[in-house]
Amino acid sequence: MTDLDAFITGLPKAELHLHIEGSLEPEQMFAFARRNGISIPYASVEEVRAAYAFGNLQDFLDIYYAGADVLRTRADFHDLAAAYFDRAAADGVVHAEIMFDPQTHSDRGIPFAEVIEGLLSAMEEAETRHGISSNLIMSFLRHLSEETAFETLAMAEPWLDRIMAVGLDSSELGHPPEKFARVFTAAAARGLRLVAHAGEEGPPDYVKQALDLLKVERIDHGNRALEDNALVDRLVQSGMTLTVCPLSNLKLCVVDRIEDHPIDRMLALGLKATVNSDDPAYFGGYVADNYRAIAAGRGLGKAELAELARNSFTGSFLPADIARKHVEQVDAWLAAH
Ligand code: ADE
Ligand code: ZN
Repeated sequence: MTDLDAFITGLPKAELHLHIEGSLEPEQMFAFARRNGISIPYASVEEVRAAYAFGNLQDFLDIYYAGADVLRTRADFHDLAAAYFDRAAADGVVHAEIMFDPQTHSDRGIPFAEVIEGLLSAMEEAETRHGISSNLIMSFLRHLSEETAFETLAMAEPWLDRIMAVGLDSSELGHPPEKFARVFTAAAARGLRLVAHAGEEGPPDYVKQALDLLKVERIDHGNRALEDNALVDRLVQSGMTLTVCPLSNLKLCVVDRIEDHPIDRMLALGLKATVNSDDPAYFGGYVADNYRAIAAGRGLGKAELAELARNSFTGSFLPADIARKHVEQVDAWLAAH
């Protein structure tokens, strides 16, 4: 391991943009299919990996939703999340804010309780086994209707004290944030925090809508905000956190080459960018791999990597005093290296 690899691995970090369904490794897909008696359209792990060549977000989503079909029981959701936490712990993650897509499962007849209880049990274990704190972000699928988003919110009612925030994901183009303004207002009224994917493939106007109509506290991705200088100024002035996902951007052709990734431009502009894995099983790397990819691709040094890690805590939903303690750990790690 190089000095910079070791620095990245040991750098305390929070992961703020991770779809738990996107951490389903091909090996696990086969294991869950076997134990649930389901057949899958792949003969081998290699064949699955070979299918992970995407031209855009929708190419990926089609495969991602199909893959999620092997997730049937509370044990599946537990084991999926437990495996993620093991990987995250090895990557120096000390706090994770985990998105899950209830509609992907409720549409297949999987009870909400099975999904969330499985995830919550793995989250409790992660705290005792790895010292990782975590919370849940319930994401609405934007290609589905506002009505089904409201049904999802109602379904979650008994667990709302265990859910930190709502989010918005899936096919962005043609599904602007405004479609979900009312359900976000309803979620806020129930005490939930708010985030949304915006500006991954969608135009800068979708980022503005997420701010103005959804009133989000964090933008997931946000890459295309860079096309609008006034919007960049606004994001800088408001200290808005962007949860950027470099390997995802590469795999989904948001950037052509990792060398073209705008992460350091975002920092130089004063944007509160963070580094995250999005769907690590599909995009070829967990969070430390994402830090490594931009360090190599853009020549980022330790100070910039530490800034990204600091942003991950200040942009998290952790209480301010706990976030501050984590930031001090980042500073201590940087000072020691
Ligand atoms: N669901 C899982 N990953 C996603 C992404 N990168 N964009 C939109 N929806 C997603
Ligand atoms: Zn995402």
